Amino acid sequence: MAVVLTARDLTRHYEVSRGLFKGHATVRALNGVSFELEAGKTLAVVGESGCGKSTLARALTLIEEPSSGSLQIAGQEVAGADKAQRKQLRKDVQMVFQSPYASLNPRQKVGDQLAEPLLINTNLSATERRDKVQAMMKQVGLRPEHYQRYPHMFSGGQRQRIALARAMMLQPKVLVADEPTSALDVSIQAQVLNLFMDLQQEFNTAYVFISHNLAVVQHVADDVMVMYLGRPVELGPKNDIYERPLHPYTQALLSATPTIHPDPHKPKIKIVGELPNPLNPPPGCAFHKRCPYATERCSTEEPLLRELDNRQVACHYAEQFLDGAA
Ligand SMILES: Nc1ncnc2c1ncn2[C@@H]1O[C@H](COP(=O)(O)OP(=O)(O)O)[C@@H](O)[C@H]1O
Ligand code: SF4
Ligand SMILES: [Mg+2]
Repeated sequence: MAVVLTARDLTRHYEVSRGLFKGHATVRALNGVSFELEAGKTLAVVGESGCGKSTLARALTLIEEPSSGSLQIAGQEVAGADKAQRKQLRKDVQMVFQSPYASLNPRQKVGDQLAEPLLINTNLSATERRDKVQAMMKQVGLRPEHYQRYPHMFSGGQRQRIALARAMMLQPKVLVADEPTSALDVSIQAQVLNLFMDLQQEFNTAYVFISHNLAVVQHVADDVMVMYLGRPVELGPKNDIYERPLHPYTQALLSATPTIHPDPHKPKIKIVGELPNPLNPPPGCAFHKRCPYATERCSTEEPLLRELDNRQVACHYAEQFLDGAA
C-alpha cells in the first residue's frame, strides 16, 4: 500500500509573552511527532485537551508551518515546495473541523460552496460541476433541493455532512478531521462516523482522525497515536494498543472510557491531577507526576519512544505490562 503522509520529528513551538517586563517563553505545543500513514487507512490521534492535537492538525494541513521536522504529502516534501506544488498539496490534504461553521460560509448556498473547490481547481463546466455536487450530496445523504439552502437551515449532523462533502470534493489523498463528531448529539455521532467510513472506502482516502473519545476511536482507527504534552507516548495498531496498552497514560485513558475494558482483571488507573503546564514541562517523563508507577528514575530520565510488542512506546517500564504483571 502507498504511504501518502509521512511526518518526521515534526515540531511546532509558539513564542508567548509572559507579561510585561518578563520577556517571552516558548510553548512546545508539538514536540517531535513521527508517523507514516497509508492510503485508505486511519490514524487516530488521542489525548487530553491541550496535548497538541489541533496543533498537529494545523501543521499537517499547511495552515501553519512546523517549527522543524519534515512532512511529506503524497510523496511531495512540503518544505521547499514551489507555488504550483503548494497548490497541489492544498488539494491533496483537506480538513474537517469540530465546528462545521469553521469550514462553511454561512452566507453562501450549500451547493455553491460544494462547487467552489471545483470552480477554483478544475476546468469543469457549470453543468459538470453541478452534476458532481449533486452526486456528492447524494453520497452524504442530502437531497437535491438542499443545493439552494444555507448552512443554518440544517441540523448539526447535516452541517457536518456538508463540511465532509466539501472536503471530499477534490478527492484529497489525506483528510484531517479534528474532533469532527465531538459537538454532535450522541445519537447522531454514529451516523456521521459511518459516513466518514463509507467515504474512506469509496475514495481510499487516508484519515488523521483526532478525538479525545476512545470509544469513537475504537470504531474508526487502524492505528492509534496517544499524545501527551506534545509528544507521542504510544503509537501502533489499534487492536494491540486497545488489547494491551503498554503506556500507563494509555492504560489510564482506556480505563476511563466506560465502554472499553481492555482487561477486566487489571486494576483501573485513574488519571489524577492536571496536564502539566507546557511552558514549564516536568523533567524526566512528562507523565511522572500523575503516574502510579513512577520511580526516582522517571523524574530525571526522559523515556524515549522505542519498539516493543508491535508498537512504539515511551515508558521506562513498559515491559512490566506485557505479561499483565502490573
Ligand atoms: N497560537 C498559539 N499560541 C500559543 N500557544 C498555543 C497556540 N495554539 C496552541 N497553543 C498551546 O499549545 C498547546 C496544545 O494546544 P492544542 O494543539 O490546541 O491542543 P489540543 O488540540 O490537544 O487540545 C496548549 O498548551 C495550547 O495552549
Ligand atoms: S516512564 Fe515512569 S512515569 Fe513515565 S509512564 Fe513510565 S513508569 Fe510512568
Ligand atoms: Mg484541539
